Amino acid sequence: MEIIIQPTPEAATKIAARIIARQLREKPDAVLGLATGSTPLLLYRELVALKLDWSKVTTFNLDEYVGLPREHPQSYHSFMWENLFRHVNIAKKNVHIPDGNTKDIPKFCAKYEKQIRAAGGIDLQVLGIGTDGHIGFNEPTSSLASRTRIKTLTQLTRRDNARFFGSEADVPHHVVTMGIGTIMEAKQILLLAFGPKKSRAIAEAVEGPITAVNPASVLQMHPVTKVCLDAPAASGLQRADYYRWVYDNKPGWQTF
Ligand code: F6R
Repeated sequence: MEIIIQPTPEAATKIAARIIARQLREKPDAVLGLATGSTPLLLYRELVALKLDWSKVTTFNLDEYVGLPREHPQSYHSFMWENLFRHVNIAKKNVHIPDGNTKDIPKFCAKYEKQIRAAGGIDLQVLGIGTDGHIGFNEPTSSLASRTRIKTLTQLTRRDNARFFGSEADVPHHVVTMGIGTIMEAKQILLLAFGPKKSRAIAEAVEGPITAVNPASVLQMHPVTKVCLDAPAASGLQRADYYRWVYDNKPGWQTF
């Protein structure tokens, strides 16, 4: 893991945006895995401002609520079109977001996995992290080998996400999410976390044992993961000074 600590979310986001921009320049038909929520909002704004060419890019989103109409303002379909897709020249046919309203969820999930494989796999996966360490909506104790499937949100996640819905009662219980095994197959992973509420989950994920109790900790097994943090999110890390030194003194030839 490469841990990149910056003073603010803006500074950490700029670095993440540069990594994605480089990916799209090097491989114009790249396959991106995308996340929703508060964390990537700045990133999507930054990517839009960079005016990159998305015409050959394919995307797969991590997750979607089950039972929420696509047009609902809090559906992840709405989120992605509102915050990214409508501002860039992506082809609609290249956008994939799990269908939370499908009648046959297992069949849909198998198809989603197949579509990822048919696209050549995910080149770069963007991740946020839950306060409980979830990635995608793989809640604590999710199988570290899991594939795309239905999951039940924990009370903590529903409470965290109540801010988008107005009340906790309105947050759906179920989601379709890429599995941890699916996420781990991405060639490169970019995890972003901002704010003091994420510091514990980040400290456990980066410096704790690999455990399904903190699903993000599995990223320790991923060969090319970068973690972009603001200072509050990094505040629980014991080796923060080391990570800062490593990043500030990175030799020019080191591309990863
Ligand atoms: C969203 C997702 C989740 C979020 C996580 C953090 O697609 O997969 O894992 O990244 O819940 O959410 P925020 O960024 O709102 O704190």
